[in-house]
Parts: sequence; C-alpha cells; structure tokens
Amino acid sequence: MTQLDILIMAAGKGTRMKSRIPKVLQRLAGRPLLHHVLDQAAHLQARSAIVITGHGAAEVEAATAGAASAGRTFELEFVRQEPQLGTGHAVQQAVPHLRDGGTVVVLSGDVPLTHADTLRSLVAASAGGQLALLTVTLPDPTGYGRIVRDTHDQVQGIVEHKDATEAQRAITEVYSGIMAVPARLLRGWLARLTNHNAQGEYYLTDIVAMAVADGVPVSAHRITDALQVAGVNSPMQLAELERAHQLRQARALMEQGVRLADPARFDLRDDARTGVRGELVCGQDVEIDVNCVFTGRVELGEGVQIGANCCIANARIAAGAVIHPFTHIDGEKLGATVGERALIGPFARLRPGAQLGREVHIGNFVEVKNSTLADGAKANHLAYLGDATVGERVNYGAGSITANYDGANKHRTVIEADAHIGSNCVLVAPVTIGAGGTVGGGSTIAKSVPPGALSVARGKQIIKENWQRPAKLPKG
Ligand code: UD1
Ligand code: CA
Repeated sequence: MTQLDILIMAAGKGTRMKSRIPKVLQRLAGRPLLHHVLDQAAHLQARSAIVITGHGAAEVEAATAGAASAGRTFELEFVRQEPQLGTGHAVQQAVPHLRDGGTVVVLSGDVPLTHADTLRSLVAASAGGQLALLTVTLPDPTGYGRIVRDTHDQVQGIVEHKDATEAQRAITEVYSGIMAVPARLLRGWLARLTNHNAQGEYYLTDIVAMAVADGVPVSAHRITDALQVAGVNSPMQLAELERAHQLRQARALMEQGVRLADPARFDLRDDARTGVRGELVCGQDVEIDVNCVFTGRVELGEGVQIGANCCIANARIAAGAVIHPFTHIDGEKLGATVGERALIGPFARLRPGAQLGREVHIGNFVEVKNSTLADGAKANHLAYLGDATVGERVNYGAGSITANYDGANKHRTVIEADAHIGSNCVLVAPVTIGAGGTVGGGSTIAKSVPPGALSVARGKQIIKENWQRPAKLPKG
C-alpha cells in the first residue's frame, strides 16, 4: 500500500466572510474548519500533512500546531505561500517538503465535510500511478473548474470558469478542488505550470492536461453529494454546512435509539474554550426536546429526559434524571454531575464542580457552583450554593445564599445531613450547620451551629398595636 501525504491549501483570504479571523479558523460545530480537514487526514492514516498558509499564517499555525486532532498519527508541517499566486503556486511551495514515493491528496482548508470513504475511493482510483480527480455535478456550476471530456468520455482537462468558452460553461461536472496524485508525477508537472490565463494565476488544474499529454491515465471519481465538497466562502454557507453537519450528528444519535424531538433543532459542538470534542454519549431511552445545545463531552444515562432549550456542557447526567426546560449546565474543566432521578430546573444553573447526588432537586433560579449535594438534598427556588458541602436530605430554603467570598478568598459552607435552612438566609462562610439543625428564615449565620440546634439571627419582631401610618401633608 502506498503512503499518503496530505496537502491542505489554507492560504486564501476568505474576503467574503468579512471577518478578522482567517477563514480556515472559522468554526463549524465549535471546531475550526481546518481542524475538520485535518481529521480527514487522520482517518486516512496519512503519514504526513502539509498545511499551506498565507493570510493570517501565524494565527492559523498557532491555532493548529498544538490543537492535536485526536489520535493524530501523521507529522504536521506548515509551509507559507506569500504572495498567493494561485492553487498551483500554493502546491509548488510544498514540493520541497514533500516526501518521496507517496501519493499526495490535495484538500482545501475550507471544505470540512468530505467523508473519509470518499477520499479512500479517490486514493484507490489513483493507485498504480494515475491522477484521480474528485468531481461533482452541480445544477449551477458557475465559478467552478469544468471537467472537459472527449467523445470517448475520457477526461481531457479542467477549464476554469473565467477561461471557459460558452460551450464549456454548459458543462455541469466540476472539479471539487480535491485530487489524489503520485508525488513523483506532481513534482514534474508543477515545474511546467505557467500563469498564462484569464486570472494570471498558476492553476493546479493545468496538470490534468499535462497528464493527458504524458499518457498518464486520469480518472474522475464523481460523487453526487455536493455537501461533501462544499466550501465555506460566506457566513451563509458556513451556516448551511453547520446545519448539514448537525443533521448528520443527529441522525447518528437517532440510529442509536436517542429520541430527538426534532433532529433539525439539535446542536453538538466542541468546547471552543478547551478544544474538548463534542461528544454525546447516551444510554437507552434518552429523550431530548427541541433547541438543546450540547458542548464538549456530555453523558446522559438511561432514560434521561432533557427539556427544551437547555445548554449542557461537560457534564454527566445519571439514569432517570430529568432536566426541565431552559436549564444551563456548564461543567467547564471541572465537570458537573447530576445523580440518578434528580430533577433539575426549569431555569436552573449548574456551574463547574456542581456534584449532585441521587434524587436531588434543584428548582427555578437556583445556581450551584463547586458544591456537593448529597442524595435527596433540595434547593427548589431562587437560591445560591457556592463552595458548599450539603448533606443528605437537606432542605435549602427559597432565597438563601452562601456568602462564599469575603472579597479576597473563597470559603466553604458545610450543611450537614437533614438540616433545614429557612428562606432568605445568608450563610457567611466558613460556617457549618450541624446535622438536623434548623436555621430560621431571614437569618444571617456567621458562626457555626451544633447538630440539632435552632439558630435564628435576625432583628426581633416588634408589634405596635393600632399603629397610625403618617398622613399625607396638605398641598402648597
Ligand atoms: C479552485 C479550482 C477549481 C475548482 C474549485 C473548487 C484551481 C485553479 N481551480 O477554484 O477548478 O472547481 O477550486 O472549489 O485550482 N489557495 C491558496 N493559495 C492561492 C490560491 C488559493 O492557498 O494562491 C487556496 C484557497 O485558500 C482555497 C483553495 O486554495 O482553500 C482553493 O482556492 P479558491 O480560490 O477557492 O479556488 P478557485 O480558484 O475558485
Ligand atoms: Ca481563485
């Protein structure tokens, strides 16, 4: 089997994106376009990948060198093309870095959705020293290079749109920008390129006519799924490919039995902050309502139900838990866990280090950060639990908060099992409420309380009978 070396063209400007971010770093499912293309190199088990950079080269290289594609087995190298004098010129820059004896697969950094199987077929078509082109038939081929064939249907060359005659412009089979070619032949042809054409560019596509002239067989591997070779040139095209990619992911989950209320309203993304891959691992009978966004690695146990409009990142949700609508869970780097049969939301917020046990209830407008809630603990309304350790079956009243930050440092609050915290309490950390203790509503508790005690810390109630409210003063 011949060795594969991948060449990825990523020097172009992407003017139509109207963005300061280089086009190949625009994100699809949270992942830069170029990284999607590098994933293809990984799937192909290439021995090397050369990325040709130009516009925003330093930024593209910095964002790509470290962000390893998972299981990357190939060597990654960057070559700069300055100025950009065409696709042929781009590939010429890479030639001195190309290894001998392999097959080169040319890809574009802005074409993210090509299937690995398609590329494998293309590579197979180039076996034995042929030039293999990936082509597609488009109802509107405007702008693309046309595949010109002779009367025996043999490929004769590629004519760029701007150089094409009226008759050639009627051809609907176009070059996708993707080819597989033996390195040895590529070298020779590139050396002979000229820029005598409508755009004054060095066209990589001119090597096709050279192959024909040299008697090297040229094959066209024609596919019908245009999405696989669709490039991103504008925000609209980026959004179209995003939807197509998300639909693919939704389908794959549904084939595993996950019940999505609407596969068109589902998103699974990489975590752009950390580069953690978007991955949704589901047990049996998981149900996900519309408009949910999953980020990073999320695990949903058997029978988990996710209500509409939830955002869930880097979290583990155990079997039977129900996440009601409009809940936001983001474990960031620490992760967040929800125990079996827990009930969360609607409108709940779980932040990094939220670790909830079995049958925990977190209700509306409750925020939990870096806190452990043991089995059966409940905080049902309008509350904050930060840096807290909460025991089993604790009831944490509406409007209560842990004052965990003294302006300089964070401190822990410990609420032992079976304690009952009334409404509107402030627990000033560090502080411990002993097991089974009761804190009266409206208390500000700054000193620890032993088990079993009632603590009340609020102004004493005053009653003045027959109290006359001030009367309004006469006007003027
Ligand atoms: C090219 C093909 C055309 C094909 C089309 C498919 C040529 C001459 N034409 O068209 O037949 O139908 O792709 O999309 O190859 N790039 C560089 N350096 C350059 C120029 C381009 O790195 O100097 C990169 C771009 O960033 C892009 C890729 O090469 O990733 C293709 O360039 P683009 O200008 O989009 O292709 P076209 O010339 O339109
Ligand atoms: Ca061009």
